[in-house]
Amino acid sequence: MKSTLSLAILSSLGGAHAFWRMECRGRVGLARIDPLVDPGTLSHHVHSIHGSSGFGMSSTYEDLVNADCTSCAVLEDKSVYWAPSLYFRHEDGRFEEVGQEGGMLAYYFLFADRKDESKGIKAFPNDFRMIAGDSSRRNYSVAGLDYREPDPPMAAWAALGQTTQEALRQRAIGFNCLNYGKGENEATLWRHYLPEKSFIDQNCKNGVRFEIAFPSCWNGRDTSSPDHKSHVAYPDQLIDGRCPEGFDVKLPGLMFETIWKTYDFAGLPGEFVISNGDPLGFGYHADFISGWDANFLQQAVNQCRDPSGSIYACPLFTIQSEAEQRKCKMPERFSIASSEKVVGVIGNSLPGGVAIHRGPEPAGKAAAPAHQFVPVAIPNPPEQNDIPGGVFQEVEATSVQAVEAPEVPEPTPEVPAPTPEAPEPSDPPVPEGHELVRTDYVTEGRTLSKIVVIQTTETVLMTTETVTVTISPTANARRNTHGHHHNVRRHRHGHGAHH
Ligand SMILES: *[C@@H]1O[C@H](CO)[C@@H](O)[C@H](O)[C@H]1NC(C)=O
Repeated sequence: MKSTLSLAILSSLGGAHAFWRMECRGRVGLARIDPLVDPGTLSHHVHSIHGSSGFGMSSTYEDLVNADCTSCAVLEDKSVYWAPSLYFRHEDGRFEEVGQEGGMLAYYFLFADRKDESKGIKAFPNDFRMIAGDSSRRNYSVAGLDYREPDPPMAAWAALGQTTQEALRQRAIGFNCLNYGKGENEATLWRHYLPEKSFIDQNCKNGVRFEIAFPSCWNGRDTSSPDHKSHVAYPDQLIDGRCPEGFDVKLPGLMFETIWKTYDFAGLPGEFVISNGDPLGFGYHADFISGWDANFLQQAVNQCRDPSGSIYACPLFTIQSEAEQRKCKMPERFSIASSEKVVGVIGNSLPGGVAIHRGPEPAGKAAAPAHQFVPVAIPNPPEQNDIPGGVFQEVEATSVQAVEAPEVPEPTPEVPAPTPEAPEPSDPPVPEGHELVRTDYVTEGRTLSKIVVIQTTETVLMTTETVTVTISPTANARRNTHGHHHNVRRHRHGHGAHH
């Protein structure tokens, strides 16, 4: 991509299915905050939050773009990406936070509307906001199908009447059982429910990857809508395909992926529950506010169409290191009554007192939050500004500071001495000879292939001609605490070109 002249050639070479993987290796917080659904107040349930450190209960576009940092790789991206987190409910009723592996990936699929591909992709306007999924949903209702049955082939969806927005919304959710030692990987968005604990224990040795695709057809007018959904719609093949009437502007197709360390609970009696009280997964959802500059993003959409999907292949992007991504945390702290924890082993209810609801009828929104709370901004202590502490500190058994709450007339609580900040949890040792598993996508024609790359600390054992593995031995040495990865590489079903 040396000059704009080469653009036409590049797009004709397969740019029609360009995409990027936005890596967000850090997490800016784990907190009951959701500026879209519960602006200005504590949110119903806990979210895992990635992107701009300007995230808060009422973040504006200015807050996001003016923030000090982002937990994603591209400095020009001050967007925020958030989704519910995962808990494990022990047999005795205690809930425990499930750890997240390797931050998150936000895919940007640059797939034009099949009705008229010449229109290309329009960048998100500044402050564009949207939600995918429905937190209260507790059933799968596509065409009366059993949710355990695999989807019919995508090409048949329209004829089967399965391209309604209601159906597509349910198919936009995936729970991918990861087992890198097994022959085949599951396809992305293949299973639309969170499998049972016993299945996960037996099959998902490397955790469960939560996936959710956002609508990418836009009404071309509104940066949001009252429900943050009705200004956008899915194309008839979910990520690709034709946009419905009235939603004729194709945006980048976002898809989030987060991996949860369910294997930490292998063999323990209990069940996994999403933070919104959903043990089945149908109520999984995700939120996005664009913190890009729309003009910049448009340039990147037009120019950065490398088939590898690598953000490193886009000369416009300023990339920061993984260490920098991980350092980025929300500077603002919110005090919650000290009995509420969101990390480690917590009490006998989910944070926020959220009840488990199995459906099939939709879950009601919980009443008032179980704990009184007051948001309070506290300046960072000078020497600890990369350890926000409090509710956002991702260590076990965090104690949350109670702080003075000036807006509440009485009783004014005493301000206790600040809890000493725990040190950042030290990275687990590298299992002998191995390190990070990395997943990548390649596109070929209309086929997306997933590639998993595993390497020893010294040698890349397997890679492909289309994927650049740039993992340095030290940068990723922290993640793999379980050492049972194998040196393999594999692809999605039905795609043999790289085998
Ligand atoms: C299934 O979920 C939808 C959306 O929440 C709801 O409208 C419908 O009533 C539910 N079906 C049943 C049988 O409860």
